[in-house]
Amino acid sequence: MHFTHSLTAALALGGSALASPTEKRVTVGLSKAMRQRGRSFIGTALTLRDDAQELAIVENKADFNSITPENAQKWESTEPTQGNFTFEDSDRYVDFATDHRYQIHCHNLVWHSQLPDWVVNGGFDNETLIEVMHDHIKALAGRYKGRCTRWDVVNEALEEDGTYRKSVWYNTIGEAFLPLAFKFASQVDPKAQLFYNDYNLEYNGAKTDGAQRIVKLIQSHGVKINGVGFRAHMTSEPTTSSGGGVTPSQQVLSAALRRMTSQDVDVAYTEIDVRMNLPATQKKLNVQAKVYQRIAASCLAVERCIGMTIWGVSDKYSWIPAVFDGEGAANLWDEDFKKKPAYAGFLRGIHQGGNNGASL
Ligand SMILES: *[C@@H]1O[C@H](CO)[C@@H](O)[C@H](O)[C@H]1NC(C)=O
Ligand SMILES: *[C@@H]1O[C@H](CO)[C@@H](O)[C@H](O)[C@H]1NC(C)=O
Repeated sequence: MHFTHSLTAALALGGSALASPTEKRVTVGLSKAMRQRGRSFIGTALTLRDDAQELAIVENKADFNSITPENAQKWESTEPTQGNFTFEDSDRYVDFATDHRYQIHCHNLVWHSQLPDWVVNGGFDNETLIEVMHDHIKALAGRYKGRCTRWDVVNEALEEDGTYRKSVWYNTIGEAFLPLAFKFASQVDPKAQLFYNDYNLEYNGAKTDGAQRIVKLIQSHGVKINGVGFRAHMTSEPTTSSGGGVTPSQQVLSAALRRMTSQDVDVAYTEIDVRMNLPATQKKLNVQAKVYQRIAASCLAVERCIGMTIWGVSDKYSWIPAVFDGEGAANLWDEDFKKKPAYAGFLRGIHQGGNNGASL
């Protein structure tokens, strides 16, 4: 998708012209606006590479005050063979956060995917696999003790119907792997906020029930869990990969978040993007802007929604076209690093959400 400067400018002007004349001057900057609303952060997924344009956007403190390393801390990157810990790449991200005084959402400790073969097919019995998990958490979370603002302790433990995913973790250890992982993480880094993270929790359906059950399970063991991350890989129109679904209403989104906060934990959107069928048109981009607006508003409508992370800044590097054929244009900046209408929509949602958000 390539827009001319003038079209992008026209869209941006169109966006602000929609604001009512009595509305207060809109603060420029996503994270600035978010913190003005008393929330904690706006973040982006980050892959450090040689792209000055991308980096300039990430480094703009008015927009961001948090990063999530996209891949560097995953198991295959940090313990590719047993006991062989490789932290060089991961260190760059934690150092980036420290140098920029950004929060860092560390990602992740226990997941079934991007997990090396030695774990998946190691044939470990229950006791040994718990040790393998414990060793990994001790080494990885231990290395960054006091430096990770949040940790995704367990990622994607649920099937779509809300039952446990049949991973090596669940198949070998049973549901006990969840409280055990959180217990180990809280022992290793008591200051980090510990999150359970999953996708498709936004629809307030069976999978949302499952996440609420996981929170209760962990709490029932007397183990600390601070929050639930809603990944929010959403669509602005029905696509093949969405199975015909689209982003629900703001009311449904907020209701799903409140299911977790009613268990006395925080919530955050952790991987927001909003994809569509390509090619993007101006009309589709305006619809997308509205979706971003209601996602932001749904967070602001829930007191314990502490922040939102978008999954990368530019469409140029989005994971979506490679995974979902014919879909994409999901981010706030286009492939030429120009702000899309979605940027203004997201910002508007931060400003308005929780006030007149119900009408969005
Ligand atoms: C550790 O893993 C790295 C990355 O896969 C590899 O290059 C290195 O040879 C491994 N070292 C040992 C001792 O297994
Ligand atoms: C594995 O061991 C843990 C810790 O002793 C226990 O809680 C869990 O139920 C065991 N899982 C299975 C499948 O036996």
